[in-house]
Order: sequence, then C-alpha cells, then structure tokens
Amino acid sequence: MLKKIVTLLLCGFAEATQLLQPAPSLFVNSVDMSTLSQRGAKSAALQHVPWRFAPGGNNRYDKDKNPTGVVAFATAENNLVQDELVKYVNDNITFQATDFLYRGSTNGGAKFPKAMASHINAFFKPFSPVQASDLITTSGLTPMHHLTALSIGDPGDGILVGRPIYGRFELDFGNVAGLKIVYADMDGVDPFGENGDVIERYEIAFEKALKSGIKVKAVMIVNPNNPTGRCYTKDALVGLMKFAQKHKIHLISDEVYALSTFDNKTSRYSSFTSVLSINRTNLISDDLLHVFYGMSKDFGAAGLKLGCIVTQDAALKDAISSNTRFSGPSGMSAAIATKILEDKAFVSSFITLSRERIRDAYVYTTKFLDEIGVQYWKGGNAGFFIYIDLSPYLSGNSSVSMSASDNPEFDLAQKLLDAGVGLHPREEHWEKPAFFRLVFTQERHVLQEGLNRLKSALQSTK
Ligand SMILES: *[C@@H]1O[C@H](CO)[C@@H](O)[C@H](O)[C@H]1NC(C)=O
Ligand SMILES: *[C@@H]1O[C@H](CO)[C@@H](O)[C@H](O)[C@H]1NC(C)=O
Ligand SMILES: *[C@@H]1O[C@H](CO)[C@@H](O)[C@H](O)[C@H]1NC(C)=O
Ligand SMILES: *[C@@H]1O[C@H](CO)[C@@H](O)[C@H](O)[C@H]1NC(C)=O
Repeated sequence: MLKKIVTLLLCGFAEATQLLQPAPSLFVNSVDMSTLSQRGAKSAALQHVPWRFAPGGNNRYDKDKNPTGVVAFATAENNLVQDELVKYVNDNITFQATDFLYRGSTNGGAKFPKAMASHINAFFKPFSPVQASDLITTSGLTPMHHLTALSIGDPGDGILVGRPIYGRFELDFGNVAGLKIVYADMDGVDPFGENGDVIERYEIAFEKALKSGIKVKAVMIVNPNNPTGRCYTKDALVGLMKFAQKHKIHLISDEVYALSTFDNKTSRYSSFTSVLSINRTNLISDDLLHVFYGMSKDFGAAGLKLGCIVTQDAALKDAISSNTRFSGPSGMSAAIATKILEDKAFVSSFITLSRERIRDAYVYTTKFLDEIGVQYWKGGNAGFFIYIDLSPYLSGNSSVSMSASDNPEFDLAQKLLDAGVGLHPREEHWEKPAFFRLVFTQERHVLQEGLNRLKSALQSTK
C-alpha cells in the first residue's frame, strides 16, 4: 500500500511539475489540500518526494549529548573552521544603526558589494577587475538560482549541466520557475576536460534537448565541482565559453567552493581557474557570462545567507533586481561579512587554515576508504566531499533503474541510516547509480565515528 502511494506520488510529482495540475488527493492522504491553490498543492506535494532532503538533519550525532544520533555525511558544511569564525565575529563585530535599516540591507548595503568585489579581485585573478556594480546580493545562492531561473527561462526551458552535479538545482531552478535541468552524459569522457572533447558531450545533449522540444537557455557548471571535488581545466572552460557564445545561451559558473581548494601542486589534476580569469575577448560576450559566489562555503558561514551573482549583463541585472525584494539579505549578515572581507589579513590566514584542515581531513578519509576497499572519484583537490561508489553494496544490483521509486539505493541509504550514517541517495546526479557524496569536513572525532559506522554497516551488507 505504502509503495503504491509513493508510486502515485512520484507520477503525480512529474505531472504536477510539468503541467501545474492539481495534486491528486492520494499525494498525502493525511493532509487536506483542498484550500490550497494549484501551485500551493504542487509545493506541498514536493515536500513528500522520498529521500528528497538530506537524512539525519534533526537528529545529529553529538559525542556527549546525542551519542546515538546520526553522523550527517550529506550536508555540505565546513565544520573545520567554526571555532575561528565564531571567535573572530564575537571579538570584532559591533553593529551600527544603519545595519538595522533598509539602506544597510538592500542589496547588501553600501559596503558589502565593495568588500566582496575587492575579495574576488584578490583571490580569483580576474582578467578585468570586478566592480561592486557587477554584483547583486540575495539571502544566499539558492534564491539567486531561483531569481536567475525566473529571469532567463520560461517554464519548460532547460538548463544544461554535465554530470556528476549537485542535485538540488532541480529544485532551485524548477520548483517555482519551472525550468528543467538537462543532463549531458559524459559517456566515459572526463567531465573536467583532462582528456577528450568534453564540449562534444554538451553539443549532443543540446541537440537532443532541442529535438525533444526543450529550449536550452544556459549551460551551467559548478567549479570546483560538487560532488567530485575536481576543478575544470582552462581548456574546458574556454570550450564552454565558445559553446555558449555559439548557441547564444548563458554560461553560468557556480564558483562557491573557489577557495576551498587544497591542491598541493604535485597533483596531475587541474587546480582551480575562475572563468573570470580568462581573457574572454572574442570568446564570449560579457552579457552571457555569470558567476555565482557567496559566504556559505569558503567562509563556513551558510547561516549568514549571503550569495551574489557577478555579471555585466545589464538586462539580467534588471530582471533579477526587480525580484530581490523577495529574498533580500539581512543587514546584520551584511555587516558581519563586510567586517570579515575588509580584514584582508584575517581572510588570508583563515583561508590558509581552512585549506590545511580540509586537506588533512581529505587525506584521512581517503586513507580510510582505501583500507576498507571503498572506491571513490579520484583526483579531488577542492570542496568538502568525496564521491564514493557504493554500487557493490546494493542489493538486487542488476535491477537498478534510475527512475524506479523503490530503488535499491534507497534501501541502502536506509540501511546506512539505521546504522547512524546519513548519506543522501541519488541526489548528486551521475550516469551511474549508487554514488554517494560523503562530506568529510567534520571534526575529527565525528568523522572517525561516522567512518567506523559506515565500515561496519557496509561489511554487514556484503
Ligand atoms: C579582531 O579581534 C582580535 C581579538 O580577537 C583583535 O586582535 C583584532 O585586532 C580584531 N580585528 C579587527 C579588524 O578589529
Ligand atoms: C600531494 O598529493 C599527493 C596525492 O594525494 C600526495 O601523494 C603527496 O604526498 C602530496 N604532497 C604534499 C607535499 O602534500
Ligand atoms: C585578449 O585577447 C585578445 C583577443 O585574442 C587579444 O587581442 C588581447 O591582446 C588579449 N589581451 C591580453 C591582455 O592578453
Ligand atoms: C553489481 O553490478 C556490477 C556491474 O554489473 C558487478 O560487477 C557486481 O558484481 C554486481 N554486484 C552484486 C553484489 O551483484
């Protein structure tokens, strides 16, 4: 019975997303949705898609207070720099009257865009300096994704991405704006362009989408990549610029992990290059190139809720600005972030420390995974995660289907959750099933506990 409801729910979900139809009453039979609008019912139903949200969030492991809680490996936070961040903010921040007023918060207030532009200029090696006026600020990057979606596409239009990729873009661009994420299959080609022509893969997906009636409005990358921790080569970035220009579509580069890199220069894999650093003359028009950046990842401050688009596209700036009133940042957050960004000595030491700790945790985690024989996406040198292959632990492996609602990946995730390990099934999308994003930027004792639980859960699964 439960399975039937879930199946109906998924079918209904797909339909509701496309057609904005009223949700079938079976969606959530305990909830009366008759007073909702069609949109409201669709949104309510989306809350009940199985495994859509990261497991373990409200029952977190704590050595002393909640030892049986879940070690949350699914949420991409940097827990390695919290002490330094909290101390800095508690020691240094005093609020001013303007921080409480509209003018201190609208678009981040007067100072934050300048401080952020200067930060980007210091760390991203932009080809031409970023100006404060190139930035729009909202309460985090998720609303910025949404406002960008509303501005560049109509319902049913597509955003082209290469896999592996962060899964919640489907929500960010789809929930309200109704855009579809179109996945380019890599078919064995390195998605970051280390070998072979990755752009050819995007061309194929673009044509395929066109044939099925989807108008692709943008190509989007996450660089450094979420969930693999790999960085795009300059060649791939140049190729993507030409690709976007050729098709007159936007190129969006989400660079939210830009400084959370730990390349030791001996790695054979590419280190981080911002699209902003490339001489784009004759490659792509300024109007088509956009970068996302914010405080959430590199500053370990997701709760500050500050995200920016960097763009010189005047029309896009107007379109986004007209709707930022729905997700404006807080003046307190802007004041805190401004103080941090203006203190360049602090930023420099904070980022250095963060990189060292991320690398230590990465080395520790990969060594552990090697020892227990878990395969993972190699060559990560950025981000907070390792993309691990748990396909050998699936039951009924041969029947794996990426569309089934009663997927063996859900069963595996449930087994892990029962063992106190929170990993998110099928959310970081790739062509192959049973890859999970493991967030290793945790305090060492939490990481150890989680990895030990993972080890025994997997051993009992085999
Ligand atoms: C921040 O606080 C520390 C003390 O924790 C102090 O040494 C430092 O000068 C302060 N920095 C600024 C920019 O006020
Ligand atoms: C750099 O990374 C490689 C691969 O992880 C490792 O073998 C090597 O020891 C590292 N070198 C330094 C100086 O950290
Ligand atoms: C940027 O590229 C253009 C076109 O290839 C070239 O003419 C120009 O010299 C380049 N600028 C710099 C500073 O390299
Ligand atoms: C899962 O499938 C892969 C590839 O088809 C195969 O190599 C592996 O042995 C299978 N594992 C199990 C447990 O069936």
